[in-house]
Amino acid sequence: MQAPSPNGANGHDGIAELIRPAAVHRRVYTDPEIFALERERLFGQAWLYVGHESQVANKGDFFTTEMAGQPVVMVRHSDGAVHVLFNRCGHRGAKVVGERSGRTQAFVCSYHAWSFDTDGTLRHVPAHDGPRAGDFDMRDPCFSMRKLPRCESYRGFVFASLAAEGPDLRSYLGGVLARIDDMVDRAPDDELEVAGGCHKIVQNSNWKIFLENTHDGLHPMSTHKSSIDASRRQGRTLTGPPPFALDVIMANNQTLENMDKLSVHAFDWGHSYMAGFRNPRGEDDLFKEYVAALEAKKGAKRAEEILSINCHNAVFYPNASVQPSFLQMRVIFPIAVDRTRVEMWFFRLKGAPEALFERTITYANVVHSPSSLIRPDDVTSYDRIQAGLGADGGDWVSQHRDLDRDEVLNDGRRSSAVSDLSMRNQYRAWLRFMSEGQAA
Ligand code: FES
Repeated sequence: MQAPSPNGANGHDGIAELIRPAAVHRRVYTDPEIFALERERLFGQAWLYVGHESQVANKGDFFTTEMAGQPVVMVRHSDGAVHVLFNRCGHRGAKVVGERSGRTQAFVCSYHAWSFDTDGTLRHVPAHDGPRAGDFDMRDPCFSMRKLPRCESYRGFVFASLAAEGPDLRSYLGGVLARIDDMVDRAPDDELEVAGGCHKIVQNSNWKIFLENTHDGLHPMSTHKSSIDASRRQGRTLTGPPPFALDVIMANNQTLENMDKLSVHAFDWGHSYMAGFRNPRGEDDLFKEYVAALEAKKGAKRAEEILSINCHNAVFYPNASVQPSFLQMRVIFPIAVDRTRVEMWFFRLKGAPEALFERTITYANVVHSPSSLIRPDDVTSYDRIQAGLGADGGDWVSQHRDLDRDEVLNDGRRSSAVSDLSMRNQYRAWLRFMSEGQAA
């Protein structure tokens, strides 16, 4: 096949020719031109997860991150409002805030010392008075640290968009909003806070490969076989139930039939979630203490409703994925067409026993950290996929499984964890962003 050109050299955009109903062209993973267009058309339009309000709990608290490769800063202003600002000086454009996080009364640019209020307003310019100032007016917003065009928060989760137009956050996230509810509802005090630092992994693979793997129920039995086998051997040496750290690894030992029983629910704009394959409820004293705290605040009936939900993970397309029962958020930063950084953040349930948060950290350390038993298996697969896609042995990547067998629901589609539904759903959104935009 003649490879389509994304730059219009074929007389049209060419993007649509990269996506088939059950396959995608390998150039979506390997072509730097496609990557540049994704920054503009996809990451430049979509709502992107920025951070959690607890990371800027007090007035003047700030947290720096990136959106579509652009430096931004999330900050709590003196009136309590949370803003997301471009981390760019209104003078000559220098990046203003160098620290990852901190607390300040004003942002001061290190180049010529212009200073900005925590809502981005230009506050002071050294030696700007007098005839040399010309018609310079420091009240002109063009000299500020400008706000992102749109910023919204849902139950503490802050999202922003580089585009001025598009659906509001709730409409955009649709049915996957329930997964944020699922996390926050688990807190007896109805509030989460980020704690325990951050794990970072730089993967030598395209950003989409990480998201495609999220609900891939076909891979654990092969990709994680050595880790699972080792955990099972250890488990056989025990007389009692396995400790939590071992149990969460052994849980990956699922049959194809078991994975087929797990539902995957997909929504507009590429979002989705998958049911859990491990019962997150415990029978030990710690879990009973937690349930008692939850019941004391919410009542036994409501606590039972909350704890009966078993979701393994969810995708907030295109830059985040959560694991509700393990209270973990993964944020995706595409660096280059073949390079991606993933940051993992963890949440503490306010009002729950502190030891429960220690389980969140244990899970992160043994399953998802860069030096864990499970994550390196996945990262090795991602790297191999990227390497293989650079070969001329074929142009198309298959997503055929259970094509046309989705259950169509009022709010989306449903299939199982061994279907390719979630991948096809992500590429429906990808094509919509890349060819039509949010207005379509
Ligand atoms: Fe920031 Fe000049 S570039 S003060």
